[in-house]
Amino acid sequence: MTASAPAAGGVAGSPRSVHPLLKAATPASWVAQACAESDVLLIDHANCEKKAASTALSLMFAYAEDLELTGKMSRLAREELRHYEQVTKLMKTLAVVPQRLAPGRYAERLRRLVAKSEPQREVDLMICGALIEARSCERFAALAPAVRGPIGDLFQGLHHAEARHYRVYLDLARRAAHRAGIGFHPRVEEFAALESELITSRDAVFRFHSGTP
Ligand SMILES: [Fe+2]
Ligand SMILES: [Fe+2]
Repeated sequence: MTASAPAAGGVAGSPRSVHPLLKAATPASWVAQACAESDVLLIDHANCEKKAASTALSLMFAYAEDLELTGKMSRLAREELRHYEQVTKLMKTLAVVPQRLAPGRYAERLRRLVAKSEPQREVDLMICGALIEARSCERFAALAPAVRGPIGDLFQGLHHAEARHYRVYLDLARRAAHRAGIGFHPRVEEFAALESELITSRDAVFRFHSGTP
């Protein structure tokens, strides 16, 4: 499936259409849990923003000779750190106490599918980035009307940024695949299928990118 492919069917109980890159919408039960556990949601969200900045920085080191990529990742890292500051500012306002949370399974399971050697590795890393950003975008859109007040307002604002970010990664993935002469769409399909499985299967640990509670 490509970014411009028609949306797949959503999950029962969810009236929203699914994001074009994703194969399944966020289950309504996850949105309900997010509303009930907004403190954990915010703490993990702050972690996700930090991790997004850190991933962008590590890609700048991994592909230092590619100035188009490093320029885009530098801008992305700065933006993700600004998001981190927005989330932690809101946590302070709402008296949410920061705590150390173990990461969920989502990113680690996606990373397991990433090839160990180049040039496939670069394509895979960019596809992973695109899917994670697309899911964040889809989750902010799902949460914004459900979580009222300042948290909903923040998510509404961040939704647009994540929509831009997934396109940055997807364009870099397409470019890397084209340059190396390797398949792009079948690999996107493979990652999107795994991503959808992680989102729709049962997950014991609630996090920003967790599966069905
Ligand atoms: Fe972000
Ligand atoms: Fe992002």
